[in-house]
Amino acid sequence: CGIIGILGLSSASPRIVEALRRLEYRGYDSAGIATVLNGTLDRRRAVGKLEALEKELVTSPIKGKAGIGHTRWATHGEPVIENAHPHMTDHVALVHNGIIENFQSLKDDLLAKGVVFEGATDTEVVARLLTRHIEEGMAPKDAFKATLDKLEGAFALCVLISGEDDLMFGARRGSPLVAGIGKGENFLGSDALALAGLTNQLIYLEEGDWVVMSRDRVAVFDAAGSAVEREISLTHVTNALVSKGNHRHFMQKEIFEQPVVVSQTLGRYLDPIGTQVTLPKLPFDLKSVTKITLVACGTSYYAASVARYWIEKYARTPVEVDIASEFRYRDPIYAENGLCIFISQSGETADTLAALRHAKEAGQHTAAIVNVTESTMAREADIILPTYAGTEIGVASTKAFTCQLAVLAAFSVAMGVAKGLISSDTEKTLVKELEHLPAQMSTVLATEENIKAIAAEIADARDILFVGRGIHFPIAMEGALKLKEISYIHAEGYAAGELKHGPIALIDENVPVIGIAPSDGLLDKSVSNLQEIMARKGRVVLFSDHLKSLPQADLAGSFSMPSAGDLTSPILYALPVQLLAYYTALEKGTDVDQPRNLAKSVTVE
Ligand code: G6P
Repeated sequence: CGIIGILGLSSASPRIVEALRRLEYRGYDSAGIATVLNGTLDRRRAVGKLEALEKELVTSPIKGKAGIGHTRWATHGEPVIENAHPHMTDHVALVHNGIIENFQSLKDDLLAKGVVFEGATDTEVVARLLTRHIEEGMAPKDAFKATLDKLEGAFALCVLISGEDDLMFGARRGSPLVAGIGKGENFLGSDALALAGLTNQLIYLEEGDWVVMSRDRVAVFDAAGSAVEREISLTHVTNALVSKGNHRHFMQKEIFEQPVVVSQTLGRYLDPIGTQVTLPKLPFDLKSVTKITLVACGTSYYAASVARYWIEKYARTPVEVDIASEFRYRDPIYAENGLCIFISQSGETADTLAALRHAKEAGQHTAAIVNVTESTMAREADIILPTYAGTEIGVASTKAFTCQLAVLAAFSVAMGVAKGLISSDTEKTLVKELEHLPAQMSTVLATEENIKAIAAEIADARDILFVGRGIHFPIAMEGALKLKEISYIHAEGYAAGELKHGPIALIDENVPVIGIAPSDGLLDKSVSNLQEIMARKGRVVLFSDHLKSLPQADLAGSFSMPSAGDLTSPILYALPVQLLAYYTALEKGTDVDQPRNLAKSVTVE
């Protein structure tokens, strides 16, 4: 969810809506705004995307120079109006990101005291609890602190109090919150992007901090309640809204930007003159790293899964890959001198961030591969290996993924070099391979027309399988994820050789199977697996640089790829699976950039 709070000198509502537009990537199940004017609280809420709230504000404008806003990704309670934020009582209006874990016991206590609830959310419990403290006669600040002391979980809060036109509270525990310092105005927001265009002076609150804000003062307190000074930093995040250009969707634009942004990213990690790989200066010796742990969620997890093959091959170092939400709960075994790499486009995903903290606490070296260099992960990891993908708006990640892979490819080679396993000649060859990649990506994208026919062929299917082997197995899984995310067709990615151990039971003439089968050392094996599928009437679509491997007449479709080495091949094969998802979604008429139930950045565990 996204949060914004403004104690301003001009009308709050248009400024809040603009900030919410920048925050919509955090959820679009509902949006809302509350203001305080001459001591009276007022609010507007709407289910669905921000547009719905904007319409509501046209028919029913809201006045006041102090206000809070929220864009929601539903956790507790359905995306219905009663559960939309802000939550309001006679005394408070409040927005919240995260989860209050002990909300049920707090709610039971309040119910027992006769407090009446409207909705089903944990947020309302906070609003009612704070109200109760104020009604008991506590001063607002004391009531807020007393409320915070009772809450368990990971959350960020932003609060207005009735009767107070120049007061706002904020709290950060587990979910990020940033205070912004303006001229005679002050702000709160879930990230630097929320405050872009309002101010460039930010205070990144620390864990447990809470804030008492007026127009001329931001007073920060720590969890124990002592006043603390926090550094003011200057942000470079701008409010320039990225446009779709000539493209119909952000996702399409982002797919086609990939040759440029991958080249931009590689440019930061390759030294063309010496034909060497260069990493930012590391606070530890890469040579002595004994184990690599890669942790991420969603698409970023598949980037990690590809990188395992590269690091094991080039640096001969054991690699463990895990999904962030699983990682820390299984009491992971850390190696002495281990390096944990956290991969995240946003740098804010709650599970990945929690995993980073877990690893740091255990004394591991930590690195973050992030696209947002002012994100929480970027600030907390020992080092950042940035991707230079530019802002990614489409909820289904495309260019961030291939840029993550570009960084991981460069990292794998650098590690191999550091370990003395890659000669300078081999390094040169690998650097050349990477330098050639953007041009090859353009070649693949130039043949997108051929994907449209395949999309038309599969759009009516209920289930689709993607199969790949070796380093292309994670690309099969990413292809299935992309398709699920935006076309809502059920799809699964399998290791081609594993199909016969169960999933082959699903195969009949209604199940298309996308076979990712480049002519690497595993082509023959992949072809046998695809034949097993065809023998059972499965409709195989082949993505390969060697389409001759199977008789064209027996295929339901095919897409020709250029040949490439194993450092670049998975990055190239990411493109047709993205395009396939995109064009299938167009066939189905789904919302490509903001698919149902998803959020671009998930800041709850
Ligand atoms: C969300 C998005 C996915 C994304 C995942 C991880 O679920 O919908 O597209 O892959 O988060 O995001 P991150 O920002 O950590 O890469």
